Amino acid sequence: MKYIFGNWKMYLDHAESITLAGSIRDMVQVPEGTVCAVFPNTLAFVGVHEILKGTDIRLGAQNVSWVPRGAYTGATSTELFRSSGASYALVGHSERRYIFGETDEAARKKLEACLDSKITPVVCIGETKEDRADQKAEYRVKKQIMKLFEGLTTTEQIMVAYEPVWAIGTGDSCDAEEALRMITLIKEEIKVYFSGAVPVLYGGSVDEKNAVEYLSYGAIDGVLVGSASTDAVRLTKIIESSIISV
Ligand code: PGA
Repeated sequence: MKYIFGNWKMYLDHAESITLAGSIRDMVQVPEGTVCAVFPNTLAFVGVHEILKGTDIRLGAQNVSWVPRGAYTGATSTELFRSSGASYALVGHSERRYIFGETDEAARKKLEACLDSKITPVVCIGETKEDRADQKAEYRVKKQIMKLFEGLTTTEQIMVAYEPVWAIGTGDSCDAEEALRMITLIKEEIKVYFSGAVPVLYGGSVDEKNAVEYLSYGAIDGVLVGSASTDAVRLTKIIESSIISV
């Protein structure tokens, strides 16, 4: 199984999100053996769901609150997302961590909230440029895995995205062989804490040209695509490139 996930971030306004969803509905044929999901912003979530329901394209939340329901100003819970059609949620994306100060502890609470609501969490981990320069890439992802997975007992599906921070939105994608090496290490490390099989995707400047390099490795279970996923033609090409590898 290969997963092609598109994180639209805050690139699009409501009308643009709706237009993109319509183009994707009309253009994308999800091949057998591929799972495709888009992650619109919260404001556009319900509208995009209306357009994509009945298609093979699933929906995910970019960010969730771990509190369930009640007096939580500005929060959107996993339960609200689930009842509005979310199958997945990103947890601990580096933009949440480094721009909005989200900690591993908060990410862990969000992960558990997703599991409680039967949303598949896509836990994002990855080292910074400084970590890599200090030979600490492995240390960083191992620490993130420990904080997110230690003591976790669930039979629900969990996914991970390896997203080196220096590769996100920079056009400087991680070499596919290096992504494979890190993902292999990540899979081994997760086994220390968690017995279930955890698909691991690569994310960071994936586009319609390089997607195939990642997808052709059996151990790389898919790609998490940012800016290239906000263009229906580019996203369609990326999805098509999953065919060769399943
Ligand atoms: P990018 O973003 O493809 O624009 O680098 C990836 C991500 O942040 O998930």
